[in-house]
Amino acid sequence: MKTNNKAAIKKAVFPVAGLGSRFLPATKAQPKEMLPVVDKPLIQYAVEEAVAAGVTDLIFITGRNKRAIEDHFDIAYELEAELEAANKTALLELVRNAIPKHINCIYIRQSVPLGLGHAVLCARPVIGDEPFAVLLADDFMDVDAGQRPVLAQMTAQYEQEGASLLAVHDVPRAETRQYGIVSAAPFKPGLELVNAIVEKPAPEAAPSTLAVVGRYVLSNRIFGFLENLGKGAGGEIQLTDGIAALMREERVLAYRYAGTRYDCGSKLGYLKANVAMGLKHPEFGAAFGEYLEDIR
Ligand code: UTP
Repeated sequence: MKTNNKAAIKKAVFPVAGLGSRFLPATKAQPKEMLPVVDKPLIQYAVEEAVAAGVTDLIFITGRNKRAIEDHFDIAYELEAELEAANKTALLELVRNAIPKHINCIYIRQSVPLGLGHAVLCARPVIGDEPFAVLLADDFMDVDAGQRPVLAQMTAQYEQEGASLLAVHDVPRAETRQYGIVSAAPFKPGLELVNAIVEKPAPEAAPSTLAVVGRYVLSNRIFGFLENLGKGAGGEIQLTDGIAALMREERVLAYRYAGTRYDCGSKLGYLKANVAMGLKHPEFGAAFGEYLEDIR
């Protein structure tokens, strides 16, 4: 079976054009990716994860109501001038360091939200013939102190294997309808060889309980399959269906990441992420923990 060349992953796609309907009314006029976990927007955590994995080109697939994302990663001239004049250096650094200087941001509009597969396909002209990463910012990935961020774990695996990788974890069977579900065979420690993938199967039809979460390293050959796909589950052009086609031509591996994933596209997952990160916050984590004890 064919594998890719093992080029380093330098480009990452952030599909942020979804409607965020599970998070209404908060997402009526603002992107869900700008919702903060404690004090930082979801998209900034995802960008930091990509940069920590060595990515230098960030490709955002945006849509209507997403301008706040572009503004967040741009220079905020008036704000910076005000903070500088007031000598508020710590705040100035926070504003300036949303993104390191050597990183390129590229924005592509997905005019109609036809689905995640279609959003990824929009990045094709910028990706060219390289392998690339995809990060869904509403899947917030937390790791323990000293542990590599999840995308860096995956790019390290990619350097070894040269094959597309999907981040996976086990979910309760009752929840399979919320995920792409893979069926896979043991391959190497932490890695499994994917032999089937299906989008949002009913619990009784799911081939396993191994669910794909929002971190991928993909061969550029996926584009050839995505462009020929019709509508899949939910009437959308599904990335899952593109991966299913890719899998027949190339090795696709499921990677059991180390870390905790919070579904910040859902209100409950978002609350959990805020509590977890609030407790870890260097400035007020201890005080927040005491508060939670008090109200229990
Ligand atoms: P979701 O399934 O979370 O969809 O998409 P959504 O529309 O954002 O949210 P809900 O379900 O209505 O609450 C997964 C990811 O794919 C992106 C979303 O922005 C999200 O990061 N996406 C989805 C696109 O960029 N374009 C699309 O057409 C669909």
